[in-house]
Amino acid sequence: MKILVTGGAGFIGYHVSKALLERGDEVVVVDNLNDYYDVQIKKDRIKDLGSNVTFYKIDISNYEALNVVFQHHKFDKVCHLAAQAGVRYSIENPHAYERANGLGSLNVLECMRHHNVKDLVFASSSSVYGGNKTTPFSVEHNVDSPISLYAASKKYNELKAHVYHKLYGLNCIGLRFFTVYGNMGRPDMALYLFTKAILENKPIDVFNNGGHERDFTHVSDITHGVLLALDQVPLHGFQILNLGNDDTIHLMDFIGHIERSIGKTAEKNMLPMQKGDVYKTHANIEKTKQVLGWEPKMSVDKGINEFVSWYRGYHNI
Ligand SMILES: NC(=O)c1ccc[n+]([C@@H]2O[C@H](COP(=O)([O-])OP(=O)(O)OC[C@H]3O[C@@H](n4cnc5c(N)ncnc54)[C@H](O)[C@@H]3O)[C@@H](O)[C@H]2O)c1
Repeated sequence: MKILVTGGAGFIGYHVSKALLERGDEVVVVDNLNDYYDVQIKKDRIKDLGSNVTFYKIDISNYEALNVVFQHHKFDKVCHLAAQAGVRYSIENPHAYERANGLGSLNVLECMRHHNVKDLVFASSSSVYGGNKTTPFSVEHNVDSPISLYAASKKYNELKAHVYHKLYGLNCIGLRFFTVYGNMGRPDMALYLFTKAILENKPIDVFNNGGHERDFTHVSDITHGVLLALDQVPLHGFQILNLGNDDTIHLMDFIGHIERSIGKTAEKNMLPMQKGDVYKTHANIEKTKQVLGWEPKMSVDKGINEFVSWYRGYHNI
């Protein structure tokens, strides 16, 4: 298959592209390599994908540029992962979300429509559950109460995909990822920030005084789920599915795992809840099991150990 991966220089996009290349698919990546976080790791990811990947440095909010990519390649499927990610940054820079997640996602759908590409797997987020109190979060729950612009942009993408399914017959699977972690991970996310600070003997910022609970999901499980979705998307019409570990962990226990893995106790800077954050995430994955036959496999302690060794190796520590 020939697959377009948007955001393929990103954390999840890199792992998905690598797995697709390894099993023999043709992969075309588009990514604007923006500087939301250190661009070097994005370049390193593209370099690691090797010469078999075709890479375009373009912004998906530029319709003409994206359209040229679709003119050059006849894609079988699209895996749309490019986005302005991050809940907290959406308070600082709301326009970035409107451009990448709003207009960018519309452009992906429009290019698919005009170039007759029928199968789409796209990234949504557990953030869409916003202030929902009933856990585990189920795809049957109402998600009309987002509490960040990021969450709203992800919900809007689900709605847009539904419209393109109804109007133009696109087959779509939207995957709501739950706090993804792992090797080559994002420098703006907790595991990376905590590991870096502890190794540098600096304090870590612990929001909500450590009261958060998160369904941390390893990137190998997410990648497996994305590949299953890509393989099965023609069969399912339109589906929204949770991809989460179904094993919520308290933030302080998560930090404890990192401390044990590094062999040092963190100095903790306890801070209040931040705007836009949610207290707890927990995925109900019954429907995902049914539809895709997917189940998470990686335990958090093993995943953290693996991350810490990767971090030491990547930064020559
Ligand atoms: N990592 C998580 O915990 C998590 C959780 C829920 C949902 N998601 C979603 O999964 C997807 C991948 O997330 P990630 O963690 O790999 O993030 P990431 O930031 O590492 O990857 C996103 C990539 O998209 C690229 N990008 C952003 N705007 C673009 C634009 N306008 N044009 C072209 N490229 C653009 C970025 O340069 C980046 O390489 C995103 O849609 C994100 O919202 C991630």
